[in-house]
Amino acid sequence: MSTLHVSVWRGGESGAFQAFEVPRLESQTVLDVVTHIQRRLDPTLAYRFACRVGMCGSCAMSVNGRARWTCRTHVSKVAGDGRLEIAPLTNLPVVKDLVTDMSGFFDKWARARGRFEGAATRRDDFARVTPGSVERQLADAGIECIGCGVCYSSCDVVAWTPGYLGPAALNRAWTLVNDARDTGNRARLAAVAGDAGCHACHTHMSCTERCPKQISPTAAIAGLKRAAMAAALKGEL
Ligand code: SF4
Ligand code: SF4
Ligand code: FES
Repeated sequence: MSTLHVSVWRGGESGAFQAFEVPRLESQTVLDVVTHIQRRLDPTLAYRFACRVGMCGSCAMSVNGRARWTCRTHVSKVAGDGRLEIAPLTNLPVVKDLVTDMSGFFDKWARARGRFEGAATRRDDFARVTPGSVERQLADAGIECIGCGVCYSSCDVVAWTPGYLGPAALNRAWTLVNDARDTGNRARLAAVAGDAGCHACHTHMSCTERCPKQISPTAAIAGLKRAAMAAALKGEL
């Protein structure tokens, strides 16, 4: 059986990598490696996961310098030379070891008004939204986001401009802009049109290349830029 040489981040922001040797197994994921270390080698290692099947997004970490879901990343794909470097997601404060503080990430969803604002009451009939309508298809394109933070961690503009709302919050805002039932668009477009909003995106595409759900925050942000411009021309912002 061969051995994996694994460097794992330990401590907080000013920690350091610690080396471990882990047996290499068939069909092994990076999350399996972290779990082996925590269960067999050092029970004080802190990390986060829940579903193990790519549904919750909580296992996202930096693997050999790139943000990924560790439960859906096979070791064979990323450690051809038998080496792995596992670190917490970048662009987020480190709580301990591989655990980041996601509160700033979700605060930005709130700042982008990423919450549904409807006007219907429970006495109203169901809204009927045609599946083939342009708005429905635009909303569908981004609605499967699970808030894992991979795109946010991959975005250079977030790194340079910590106040930038970032790809996930803006993708969420665009999904709601296209929701025919939502009534909060004027305030939402005003929220995302500021200096820290959609116009700060440099269209680097890292978010779109790395999103494990194949969502394109870049396209969502381009849509927001167009909608914000149209609203400004109409004097609505
Ligand atoms: S857009 Fe993709 S990468 Fe970004 S938080 Fe949502 S699911 Fe994760
Ligand atoms: S396209 Fe925009 S949001 Fe996405 S990584 Fe690039 S700068 Fe960040
Ligand atoms: S543990 Fe849920 S997505 Fe990886």
